[in-house]
Amino acid sequence: MQLPPIHPAIVHFPIALIVVAFFADLAARISGRQSFRNLGFWSLLIALGTGVLTLIAGYADMVRLPLSAPMTDYVRLHMISGLILATLLIVLTAWRWRIWKAQLPAVSRAFLGTGALLLLLTLFQGWYGGEMVYSEGFGVAAADKGPESPGKAQSRIAAVTHVFTGKDYETAIGSPATTQTGGNTGSNKATNH
Ligand code: HEM
Repeated sequence: MQLPPIHPAIVHFPIALIVVAFFADLAARISGRQSFRNLGFWSLLIALGTGVLTLIAGYADMVRLPLSAPMTDYVRLHMISGLILATLLIVLTAWRWRIWKAQLPAVSRAFLGTGALLLLLTLFQGWYGGEMVYSEGFGVAAADKGPESPGKAQSRIAAVTHVFTGKDYETAIGSPATTQTGGNTGSNKATNH
């Protein structure tokens, strides 16, 4: 028996906890309340723990799913940004640990600025991962049941990935037109510019 994709079941924890940690520390800085400081610290710590599990599950899913162009590029970019995100999360948690141990009344502006960067990266990571699944159907057995046509949905992730790789990606993969004429495997070409 094959395991279903496990990464999608875990990703919500680090995403939600990074958001909560940032706003709790911001609220602590504005209000000076200890309860917000506690929330900020523990949320970030648990975000790191669940973030590590998310990376492992993402990698485990990636290596056992069939990868054809353009998915190879998409998942590679998602993995690289995931590793950058993880590095920033480790740095920020170590920093937060020192602030906690020193019993400082609030986090510094520099810490909040780095936290905002992590937050933006997390939102991008979550959005991009969602596009891979909901627009491209990565890891999904049944497809073309979304709120918009595959071509329209896939044009967003193709445009964003083009910024990083400089390649053009075919869209409308998995639409009735492409599946009737031989399916969506093998015909998905990425071209260099
Ligand atoms: C080594 C790093 C990572 C790899 C290799 C990876 C791989 C994948 C893969 C293969 C998928 C497709 C769904 C599946 O079959 O699991 C996916 C989806 C997704 N990923 Fe990642 N991922 C990584 C890191 C992350 C991180 C750090 C986050 C967020 C904090 C994240 C957020 C998402 C989201 C939100 C989805 C869409 C899930 C859904 O709603 O179905 N990924 N990722």
